[in-house]
Amino acid sequence: MKLEVKNICCIGAGYVGGPTMAVIADKCPHIQINVVDLNEQRIALWNSSDLSKLPIYEPGLDEIIERCRGRNLHFSSDIEKNIAKSDMVFISVNTPTKTKGVGAGKASDLKWIDACARQIAKFANGKTIVVEKSTLPVKTAQTVKKILDESEDNTKGNKKFKQFSVLSNPEFLAEGNAVDDLVNPDRVLIGGNDSESINILENIYLSWIDKSKIIKTNLWSSELSKLVANAFLAQRISSINSISALCEATGADINDVALAIGTDKRIGKYFLNPGPGFGGSCFKKDILNLTYICDYYGLKEVSAYWQKVIDINNWQNKRISEMVVEKLFGTITSKKIAILGFSFKSNTNDIRESPAINICKELMIEGCDLHIYDPKVNFEQIVSVIGESKSDLNKDNSHIINEGTWTFAKTVYSAADGADAIIITTEWSEFINIDWKMLSSLLRRPSWVFDTRSIVDTEYIESLGINVWRVGLGN
Ligand code: NAD
Ligand code: UGA
Repeated sequence: MKLEVKNICCIGAGYVGGPTMAVIADKCPHIQINVVDLNEQRIALWNSSDLSKLPIYEPGLDEIIERCRGRNLHFSSDIEKNIAKSDMVFISVNTPTKTKGVGAGKASDLKWIDACARQIAKFANGKTIVVEKSTLPVKTAQTVKKILDESEDNTKGNKKFKQFSVLSNPEFLAEGNAVDDLVNPDRVLIGGNDSESINILENIYLSWIDKSKIIKTNLWSSELSKLVANAFLAQRISSINSISALCEATGADINDVALAIGTDKRIGKYFLNPGPGFGGSCFKKDILNLTYICDYYGLKEVSAYWQKVIDINNWQNKRISEMVVEKLFGTITSKKIAILGFSFKSNTNDIRESPAINICKELMIEGCDLHIYDPKVNFEQIVSVIGESKSDLNKDNSHIINEGTWTFAKTVYSAADGADAIIITTEWSEFINIDWKMLSSLLRRPSWVFDTRSIVDTEYIESLGINVWRVGLGN
């Protein structure tokens, strides 16, 4: 039997659900795709006629939305109706770290996954393939299947009148590069134990992806591989960041070291950029989840090994703000400091776990006057994580009163005007192309540039009479 998918519903219109479904819609015009979300405001923004108002900034996404929206791509908050008419339902909801209860601070909070499974059990009709797109602890598919099969909406006596197959199909896109990653992925991973459903999902990807890139595994390998991929990527960043500190101490240059080691094919050149620590919604939560699973299975040494990746990341982030205070003569009270970049990486407006957040909080505790500029992050987003200027930061529940202030700057130049220091926290191309000659005339002397992303020409800026600290560059 060849079951062709005609209608897809994706639950969760976030950073994964939105771009992933847009690309599938673009490549498979014969499939109708409905992306649904509880968040009506987010859905309204996806439906906005002004494409600059889409809730997610991703290069190239607006063009795809323009092509497909209303044709075979629809955004809606009518979850019930759209599940009911679909042959395949993707779950792309958030799976953050639990903040309370069993496993708090480590385990993934699966309440949204549980809710999705119950919604699908209730509203689906006939045979439905349920695809886990969210990143999940290994063995979650078992839970999802149990809820689907045993829900009261699917059982009358001992008879089940709806059929469900659960697949794992984790997403590997990186924000800022999502469209390209989806159109030309390194691989597509499908885990499952029902070959017919696996083939149906594979068929969708074969519309634009070569068969050789599709990896099929059992459910548990697929779920676990996603966590492990993120752990390995994060581990590389912690490795290079740990060596950046050693470079600073010894007179080596991290960029030379990265080149020298990265040309070895076994090591590879990617993901060796030093920085202020990795951010983003996933690396930390996925490693915490991995350590939680290891602890659960009694693998304490394995858990401790991966925990260190997070520890180094926290340390790298904290040492930036400490060093800024030290270089500015031990006090930054009332000094103006420009923060260039607030998103967790370039080409995205996402600020979740951005390294800039803690750097700003730490500096404000010292009483400085921050002027924050980012090309895509808005004022409300910054308020949501560091509060209104002059507010209490309540760090670690210790009721520390934040004496610092912050202002939302509209340009690099207004942020830097009269500043004692500039801290580059995100590697936006706009910052690579700064007119340093012009900026140098605006700064108060003695002035400093702190480059946490290793993107500036240190010698040139120093030639303008500005002191420069660049991550991983020793003297
Ligand atoms: P997100 O927070 O941007 O989006 C999730 C959306 O799901 C939210 O809009 C929320 O309102 C909605 N939602 C939650 N429960 C719902 C329900 N029961 N019904 C309808 N809508 C519901 O999250 P995201 O960044 O898109 O991540 C989603 C998943 O994908 C996570 O598991 C994450 O680990 C994984 N992932 C994320 C990325 C990334 O780059 N962000 C990449 C790969 C994998
Ligand atoms: C990451 C993975 O790269 C994706 O494969 C995965 O799908 C995704 O997590 C996820 O599961 O959410 P993302 O977090 O969007 O993607 O972005 P990355 O490019 O991985 O960057 C993560 C963080 O590491 C950023 O703060 C970035 O600045 C930092 N980074 C990255 C470095 O400091 N150095 C590098 O060399 C690379």
